[in-house]
Amino acid sequence: MDIKREIKELKKEMNAVILAHNYQRGEVQDIADFVGDSLGLSFEAARTAAEVIVFCGVHFMAETAKILSPAKTVLLPDLGAGCPMADMIDAEKLRGLKAAHPKAKVLSYVNTSASVKAETDYCCTSANAVKVVQGALMDEEVIFVPDKYLAAHVSKQTGKEFIVWNGYCPTHVKITGADILKAKEAHPGAPVLTHPECTPEVNALADEVLSTEGLIRYAKASPANEFIIGTEVGIIHRLKKENPSKRFYPASDLAVCPNMKLTTLEKVLASLKEGKFEITLSEEIINKAKGSIDRMLEFV
Ligand code: 13P
Ligand code: SF4
Repeated sequence: MDIKREIKELKKEMNAVILAHNYQRGEVQDIADFVGDSLGLSFEAARTAAEVIVFCGVHFMAETAKILSPAKTVLLPDLGAGCPMADMIDAEKLRGLKAAHPKAKVLSYVNTSASVKAETDYCCTSANAVKVVQGALMDEEVIFVPDKYLAAHVSKQTGKEFIVWNGYCPTHVKITGADILKAKEAHPGAPVLTHPECTPEVNALADEVLSTEGLIRYAKASPANEFIIGTEVGIIHRLKKENPSKRFYPASDLAVCPNMKLTTLEKVLASLKEGKFEITLSEEIINKAKGSIDRMLEFV
């Protein structure tokens, strides 16, 4: 049987839902029930009626789904699909930072492990970081981990300074200011859309700095017919699919997240067939981490 049909049938049999991030391979996005950014995926994970969630993304996303839906089985088709930025901070390092700044509130990017979230007051994604800060943290001393570039972007938008961690996304830093200038020269007039994980130099050259879903919404609504895309190249699949008459130029072909590409149709099928790899978290971590995500979901 065709692999896509097999996945569809098994999914129905098991009352499973497939969630995929915008950076997943095109063929994986195409078999998913929902494709979105970290915030949209968190919502879907919290509200789905399915018993099993197959998470086509990276480890921290599957953990977030488990925190939001602890009674459900959450599967990550490849356990090696981690996020190097999330791995740049752990709970022990964060506890050290908290001890050095005892009055500070902790704001963590969703790209963190469940144990880091358990040490966190507010979680945020690239889509709502500005709103969370403006809504809850303007008068507080704030530790913001782990992405120094997202922190720089939010500081620029809000005027708020943070105690930052030296984390960054190894994929987004591959996009350089020179890449953007070259793309602008090749496609004059095309709006430049970048992600907050890009460097401040790159974001300063952008027309809009947006989460992946924000970028998709912007491209759809814009009267422009061509765009320069400064984020992981997997997003181009959805952009083209949803806007067949528009053109999208990646700012850099090097912006490929190897972890996001680990998930394949074969692994999704194996995940459903063999129930692998199940994400488990202790009740203590779930309870401690959930508060930070619930507080984030208030700011959409
Ligand atoms: P968003 O899809 O939430 O913008 O995040 C991008 C990302 O790098 C996820 O790892
Ligand atoms: Fe992590 Fe960057 Fe990959 Fe997103 S693109 S999963 S932040 S390494």
